[in-house]
Amino acid sequence: MHYSKHVFICSNEKDAPKKCCGSGHGAELVDAFRAEWAKQGGTEKIRIQKSGCLDFCGKGPAMVVYPEGVFYGNVQLEDVSEITETHLIGNDIVSRLQIG
Ligand code: FES
Repeated sequence: MHYSKHVFICSNEKDAPKKCCGSGHGAELVDAFRAEWAKQGGTEKIRIQKSGCLDFCGKGPAMVVYPEGVFYGNVQLEDVSEITETHLIGNDIVSRLQIG
């Protein structure tokens, strides 16, 4: 595999009043995860990017981490540090945010 982890963060935009991750700071999460990864000194080669709808719109902002295929929902900016430390670096799951 080219990357040891691949993180997709939904930043889909839908017309109001439909709930979607783009309106719930999905795009900000991408920047926050990239910054946190650098701050915590992650050494592996991973990719963090925006994605389209992950089909968890009602539980958004949603994201998924591969190769584990673990989905997280209602991800807030305050959760970025914990997910980075525990999952992206520590290879453990943040169960309180896991969905799917
Ligand atoms: S809009 Fe984000 S999961 Fe559907």
